[in-house]
Amino acid sequence: TNDISILAIESSCDETSASILVNGKVLNNIVATQSVHEKYGGVVPELASRAHQENLIPVIHEAITSSGISKEQLSAVAFTRGPGLMGSLLVGVSFAKSFAKALEIPIIEVNHMQAHVLAHFIDDPKPEFPFLCLTVSGGHTQLVLVKSHLEMEVVGETQDDAVGEAFDKTAKLLGLPYPGGPLIDRYAKEGNPKAFNFPVTRMPGLNYSFSGIKTAVLYFLRDQLQEDPQFIEKNLPDLCASIQATLIEMLLIKLKEAMKHYQLKSVAIAGGVSANSGLRLALSELSRRKGWNLFVPKFEYCTDNAGMIAMAAYYKYLKGEFSSMDVTPLAKMKF
Ligand code: KG4
Ligand code: ZN
Repeated sequence: TNDISILAIESSCDETSASILVNGKVLNNIVATQSVHEKYGGVVPELASRAHQENLIPVIHEAITSSGISKEQLSAVAFTRGPGLMGSLLVGVSFAKSFAKALEIPIIEVNHMQAHVLAHFIDDPKPEFPFLCLTVSGGHTQLVLVKSHLEMEVVGETQDDAVGEAFDKTAKLLGLPYPGGPLIDRYAKEGNPKAFNFPVTRMPGLNYSFSGIKTAVLYFLRDQLQEDPQFIEKNLPDLCASIQATLIEMLLIKLKEAMKHYQLKSVAIAGGVSANSGLRLALSELSRRKGWNLFVPKFEYCTDNAGMIAMAAYYKYLKGEFSSMDVTPLAKMKF
């Protein structure tokens, strides 16, 4: 048949995921989340690689069997080449090559950050070009000018920590378990965002810096705890709301500047932090005021997933962009 059927694999960080796409439609998106990292308060690369090694075949098996197509019907195998953890990427890349070799079909490398943006093309409504995508997660914070499915430009990004890291690190200072981002979100709903003031860091151009807030919160808490050892317990919702509001403000200042500078009418968010309810609310209010079209993907396509890898691979397949069998992963990878 002439169907385009792609198996896609994502293994760049701590989610092992596989997806089957047929003719541009993502049929499924199987994700195994690694829980081993919780007790360490962050992703441990060595453990992540091992967990991928354990989970990958079962996840792929489930994706293929639940798709209704057989492996012999596949047209290509896609994988995340980078950016990500080297040991984690190696597991996915090695499997993709061997599987494709055995099936005698081509392989397609995908840039993880480009895939986060293309998650917006899995479901309707799809954004029109050009648009701005704010990609925010535990590993990245980028403003991406998206000109077409495969033409994108990073116009601003963090110079140090990712915003998800800022959520997780400040949450840790508050005694919350990893990953603390979703917990800050939850407590923030009952707190006053103006209760405490944390500094808004402004970087030149459209760039970000999120390392300062961690230090600011650290010193603030140290001083307050000297006066009252129960300070955190008594003020948790207000602390969470104030930290979250500061991070959102920093994100939106540069987003507004980018929208204006490139004269854009459509804006999208991607990555794990785009699940944040405060960010969603603030951005939808801002979009309404500015008359922008706002695109927010389903939550399962916000966090790391193979559905977005499949989507990116589909556009590359249409353009005949295949990789050679000696391709290797890249921990750092530009668009
Ligand atoms: O995209 P993702 O699943 O993995 C990568 O880092 O690539 O993003 C995970 C990040 C973590 O830092 C987590 O704390 C953050 O997204 N996160 C949130 C929320 N849900 C996930 N941060 C704030 N509010 C949330 N609701
Ligand atoms: Zn990611």
